[in-house]
Order: sequence, then structure tokens, then C-alpha cells
Amino acid sequence: MKVPAPCVAASVAAAGALLLKLYSRERGRVSVVERFPATVDGKVVVMVTGGSGLVGCGIEAALRKSPNANERWVFLSSKDGDLRDSEAVRKIYAKHRPTYVIHLAARVGGLYANMTYKVQFWRDNVAINDNVMHWAKEYHVKKLISCLSTCIFPDKTSYPIDETMIHNGPPHSSNEGYAYAKRMIDVLNRAYNSQYGCKFTSIVPTNIFGPGDNFSITDGHVLPGLMHKCLLAQKGETDEFTIWGSGTPLRQFIYNEDLGALVLWVMREYEDCEPIILSVGEEDEVSIKDAAMAVVKGMEYTGPVRFDTSKSDGQFKKTASNAKLRRLHPDFQFTPFAQAVASTCEWFKENYETARK
Ligand SMILES: NC(=O)c1ccc[n+]([C@@H]2O[C@H](COP(=O)([O-])OP(=O)(O)OC[C@H]3O[C@@H](n4cnc5c(N)ncnc54)[C@H](OP(=O)(O)O)[C@@H]3O)[C@@H](O)[C@H]2O)c1
Repeated sequence: MKVPAPCVAASVAAAGALLLKLYSRERGRVSVVERFPATVDGKVVVMVTGGSGLVGCGIEAALRKSPNANERWVFLSSKDGDLRDSEAVRKIYAKHRPTYVIHLAARVGGLYANMTYKVQFWRDNVAINDNVMHWAKEYHVKKLISCLSTCIFPDKTSYPIDETMIHNGPPHSSNEGYAYAKRMIDVLNRAYNSQYGCKFTSIVPTNIFGPGDNFSITDGHVLPGLMHKCLLAQKGETDEFTIWGSGTPLRQFIYNEDLGALVLWVMREYEDCEPIILSVGEEDEVSIKDAAMAVVKGMEYTGPVRFDTSKSDGQFKKTASNAKLRRLHPDFQFTPFAQAVASTCEWFKENYETARK
């Protein structure tokens, strides 16, 4: 666990004196529920589950640019406890007493893993989400922001997709376990709101990339996979930079530092329980070919490039609308794609030995 601010434990102990003990009935027996003060030492505590991953890295980067002295941030990883285990999650809430929770932790994986382990994707994600939401309610968290994904939207749909369309048809069969588990977060956000008055909401990012990503060629997402292949070609470890498929499919990529900045905005200013898509605009959709050329430039690669059209292209496009984001946060400036790709290539080269790959 990374605690970027000084000693949470001491503040937590001091705040202990202020605990208000409430009593609630749960499953037929009386349990003690602790209501925590909205602030500890005058600061709100923001706890990030899955804080060691790609999105967590983006939030940390955004915080370096936009710090707030009134916030104390706690970034968790699986080393701090297995969120599938309810008691482990209760202990995490009891320890950190968060005012806000940003829930990023999930069992995630590539196409093959999703197709092969549908039951595990469902069970692990449902358990993680159920525990994080239940204890957020019990510990009176002021706002819980969970992370959905545009890949959970209906397989057959019209474009652009928007926040109202999540449940309008089955997801692609390859990721049913993951997609339905994520969709239930949206259902439960409304249920917790109507039954308990909780402010639980969700964000829906498109394809994320940036420092801290998983650069595995076989298991990673398209852009970090391209960066890894291009770097191997540049180092002369392969003869050429090969791009799988025709290069024609279109994608909306969001830089993790931009997503981090938008998560800060959602935490500080977005008050709705309904989901919000966090994405660049439809006009900023890029083809895989253009993305690969941005990687070539970012890596300063000058060797041969080949498209392997024997490999599948996947879905041609999954265009998402960011109209809601634009309406509520019109001034937000996304990092230009080429610049974000170049920065990520630079980070990957510098951190090659330790990067996930
Ligand atoms: N990457 C994308 O393109 C994308 C797109 C849309 C939505 N999302 C969503 O964004 C969120 C964050 O994704 P990411 O790409 O940042 O993921 P990531 O890099 O794979 O990180 C996953 C995080 O979850 C933690 N975690 C996994 N299982 C856990 C468990 N059982 N108990 C506790 N912690 C656990 C991991 O901890 P360790 O580091 O200790 O393993 C890690 O911190 C996820 O909800 C994902 O569905 C991602």
C-alpha cells in the first residue's frame, strides 16, 4: 500500500475518539457500525482499490499536477487484502476510514482469459464489487465511484453508445462473465441509492493506456502490445514491427493521466448516481494503423512495418459518446494522442526491466 501523505494511523487513532457508534440490524443479528467523521485531521480520506494498476498510476500522476492539501490519498493493491474476502474488506475500511472510495480493483484479462474463465471472471468480480459496496454502505462512505468499461455494452448496438444503453442487450459472448459482473455495479448503484440513500456512482472509460500499463504482447491491450513489439524490433530482437490485423478498426484511446484528472473531477464535483463515459470525442477515434504509426514515431523506429492480415481484426468500432462529459466539464483538455503515445513509449523504454510485460 502506498500512503502518499504522512502517517494515516496516527490520524485515525485521534479520530477514533470521535466515533459515533450506531446500531444496525443485519441478517437477524445486531452489529455495531462505526460512523466516522467526514474528515480526519481536517482532511478527507480518499481510498483507491486497485490503486497499483494502470488507472491508479494515472490518478497519482494527476494528483502530482493537481494536489489538494485537504485530501489524504491511500492507494491499495492486492497485498493490502483480497477484496473477494468480505472480512478482509471490512478490515480495510476499519483501518482507513475513507470518506471517498474510488473502486478500480477487478479481475481483468485479455480475450482468451475472458473466454476460458467466464465463471471465475463473474465470481471474482461479483465478490469484489459486492464487498466493496456493502462495506462502503456500512462505513457511511460519502461517495463511491466504481469503474465500468465500454466493453460491457451490448454487442449489437447503434453508435455512438451512451450512458443510457448499458443494459440494452447482451454483451459479446466472449466476455459475459466480466461484463455482467460490471453491469451489476450500475444496477446496485441505483439500489443502494434508493434503499439507503448512498451516493454510489460509476465511470465508464474507453481504451486506457499510459505508464504503468501491462505491456504483454499476448495478454495486454492493443496499444501497449504494439509498443512492446515495436521496441523489440527497434532493438533488433525481431526482424520487423508486425501489426496484427488490417489496421482499419477504430478505437478511442484515453491517456491514463487524463483519466486520472477526470477521476479527480468526478470525485470532487460529479454528484449523480448515473454512470458517466470518460472518453475522448467521436472525432478523436483513431485507426489501429494510425495508432501503430504513432508508436513508430514515439519509439523512433525506422525499420520495416508489416500488417499480418491473417490475424483477426476484432470489432470494427465501438464508438462512445462523451457528450455528457462535455456538457458537464466543457473545459477539459485531453493530451494530444501522439504526445501521450510518445510519453508512454519513453516511460516503457526507461522502465523496461520492471514494467509489466
Ligand atoms: N485497462 C483498460 O483499458 C480499462 C478500460 C476500461 C475499464 N477498465 C477498468 O478500470 C479498472 C482499473 O483497470 P486497470 O487497467 O488499472 O487494471 P490493472 O492495471 O490490471 O490493475 C488491477 C488492480 O486491481 C487489483 N486487484 C485485482 N484483483 C484483486 C483482488 N482480488 N483483491 C485486491 N485487489 C485486486 C490489482 O492489485 P495488484 O497490483 O496487487 O495485482 C491492481 O491494483 C478496472 O475496474 C477495469 O475493469 C480498464
